[in-house]
Amino acid sequence: MKISIGSDHAGFELKEHVKKYLESKGIEVVDEGTYSPDSVDYPVFAGKVAKDLQNKIVDYGILICGTGLGMSITANKFKNIYAALCLYPTMAKYARMHNNANILVMAGRLMGPTLAEETVDTFLSTSFEGGRHQRRIDEIKEIEK
Ligand code: RB5
Repeated sequence: MKISIGSDHAGFELKEHVKKYLESKGIEVVDEGTYSPDSVDYPVFAGKVAKDLQNKIVDYGILICGTGLGMSITANKFKNIYAALCLYPTMAKYARMHNNANILVMAGRLMGPTLAEETVDTFLSTSFEGGRHQRRIDEIKEIEK
C-alpha cells in the first residue's frame, strides 16, 4: 500500500507522527509537505495529495490542517476525490464503508497522536460495502459532471 500525505503548519506535527507511524507498519509514504512548522496555505498541499490520487500513484491520501475543514473543502473540489474529515475511528469506518472515501482528513489541533493512529488504522482496514452506497456515489458522480 502507498499513501500520499500532506499538511499545513497546523497539521505539521501530527503529519510527521502519522508518517512515521505508517512507515513503521511497512506502508510506503509520499510526503507532499509541508516540511516545517512555518505558516503556509493549506490549499497547496490538498492539491498535491489530490493530484497524486488522480494520477494513481498512491492508493489513499491523508491530509491534516488545524480543524481538517480547509483541507476537506479544497480536496473535494478535485474530480474523483472523496475526502472525509474524520475526528475519530467510527467516522473513518463509515467514511470507507458508506462513502468510499479516498482521502482521510484529520484535525491537527483537535486530535492527539493515539487517536490519529486509531483513526488511520480504521480507515485503511475498512472496505467499501457497495450496494445501495454505490448508487449514492453514482449520484455524486452525476453532480460532478
Ligand atoms: C490555519 O491557521 C488554519 O486555518 C488551518 O490549519 C485549517 O484549520 C483551516 O481550515
